[in-house]
Amino acid sequence: MTQHQSQIPAGVVNIADYERLAAERPTPSAWAYISGGAGDEITLRWNREAFERLQILPRILSGTTGIDTTLQLLGRSFAHPILVAPVAYQRLAHPDGERGTAAAAAAQDAGFVLSSLSTDTLESVAAVGDGRRWLQLYLLPDRAETLDLVRRAEAAGYEALVVTVDAPVNGVRDRERRAGFALPEGVRAANIEHYASPHMSFDPARSLDHFMSLAPTWADIDWLAGNTRLPILLKGILSPDDAELSVRHGAAGVIVSNHGGRTLDTLPATIEALPAVADRIAGRVPVLMDGGIRRGTDVLKALASGATAVLVGRPVVYGLAVAGPLGAAHVLRLLRDEFAIAMALTGCANLDAVTDSLLIRR
Ligand code: GLV
Repeated sequence: MTQHQSQIPAGVVNIADYERLAAERPTPSAWAYISGGAGDEITLRWNREAFERLQILPRILSGTTGIDTTLQLLGRSFAHPILVAPVAYQRLAHPDGERGTAAAAAAQDAGFVLSSLSTDTLESVAAVGDGRRWLQLYLLPDRAETLDLVRRAEAAGYEALVVTVDAPVNGVRDRERRAGFALPEGVRAANIEHYASPHMSFDPARSLDHFMSLAPTWADIDWLAGNTRLPILLKGILSPDDAELSVRHGAAGVIVSNHGGRTLDTLPATIEALPAVADRIAGRVPVLMDGGIRRGTDVLKALASGATAVLVGRPVVYGLAVAGPLGAAHVLRLLRDEFAIAMALTGCANLDAVTDSLLIRR
């Protein structure tokens, strides 16, 4: 077996199978980076456990046919509500990197959010097939550099900006530190390596205050909203009050996220934080969520809890690590199919039918 396979191994039927196989593929230190979380990884665990605790109450004998998973999001049509989440440095998992996962997303009609910390440039990813693409970015301390990134995204056909707002400094990542994680030769932040902005390259010689003094604020969101024609979604919203502020500051959407359990440990599970955010937003803008989605039933639960759509990060990278773009596409296919079956078995013909009445919260 070569290290970088491009065939789906026999017997793989779900995302847990991919996760198990993916653990053997990259180096142990890359695996610690990809799969690990912050601190004691309690939030990482809660993201899953909270989904497991939620029970589904189906409706039967409803004569549901013609299951339709399509949705309108930011004025565009999507075949289903599952998007690929931004994940940094995907060449750690497979040499095809982000171009591989973008191709997978296009093949499965999934919206694709490219991390600005990608190992393929945003322009090279934009050239991969047809697909609906958004760019994730951090507001860099240098506005001219942020704007450069935004203009490049606009020129390359990205349709929205996803601004990550929950990580002005890196979290405490024990697993990564224990594994001595560092980017290997040839794995680089291709979009921003020529910028002077120090984002995420935390120099231990600089103080926390130094980094926090560079951290963006609501005024920077106003500035960005006034300087791009692209819709802006803020990713990393957990508090309903911040959701409210997001709308007031021009966000076209919010993403309920705890950064995959990678920033501050013991933040709430996203599926538990979601309903209060969705209530406060009350349909004014789309509310997306990520964190812990491993099954089509999780997608159903997220939508029933108020999400317009979901994003999946690690599972797609697990697919990429195991079988390249084919594996990443297979992961998305599995989720789509499981989700459609969950809709059928709960009597939901379309996404509007997926409501809170399908859930039992304990
Ligand atoms: C980057 O955003 C990371 O979580 O590693």
